[in-house]
Amino acid sequence: MGARSAAISRDVDDRGGPRIVVLASGGGSNLQALIDATASGRLAAQVVAVVSNRPEAGALDRARRARIDSVAVVRRADERRHDYDARLADAVAAFDPDWIVLAGWMHLLSMAFLARFPQRVINLHPALPGELPGTRAIERAFDEARAGHRSRTGVMVHLVPDEGVDNGPVLATATVPIAADDSLDTLAARIHDAEHSLLVDTMIDLCRHEVHA
Ligand code: GAR
Repeated sequence: MGARSAAISRDVDDRGGPRIVVLASGGGSNLQALIDATASGRLAAQVVAVVSNRPEAGALDRARRARIDSVAVVRRADERRHDYDARLADAVAAFDPDWIVLAGWMHLLSMAFLARFPQRVINLHPALPGELPGTRAIERAFDEARAGHRSRTGVMVHLVPDEGVDNGPVLATATVPIAADDSLDTLAARIHDAEHSLLVDTMIDLCRHEVHA
């Protein structure tokens, strides 16, 4: 928590490793990959909280099942984006995160949030750097392949320094081929498999290099 003493912080970190807060708007299969990797010991870190902007998000159910703190922070109809992001940042900061992972987080974060966590926010996107930013990236890759304009897509994990959409210093990528006989479902399944591996492997790498006071 934000008010935790350094001694308590070190205690917790020594037991569970770096503290990860996951922001998720959807079903949470990537969150699940992180939870499973911490449970198996592959990822020496702890998912300390899951925060969603959608109270009905499956990711919150996954958190509850894993006995992880889960919080819905919903933007009010009359709430300015800056005010929402500041409120969201307060909610996230309360969990004292070392890393904040955007795993299917579908609200564009402003500097009111990002400035609070420099070099700590990581985004997962189902496309290669510079390609298909924004929503429906998998569907758009599939449509482009059907139109004969591409034969591969991919996934990436990157830092989020500013308000650029699915853009920032790249930490890892994986290329995903698109087969001629792919349906949208088979392609999406292959991309999600690639995401789960890439996100977990990237977090393993980042947490290995984490230095705690
Ligand atoms: C994932 O494909 C993730 O890359 C994508 O949302 C999906 C969430 O799946 N994120 C974006 O498109 C961000 N622009 P999940 O809820 O099963 O983890």
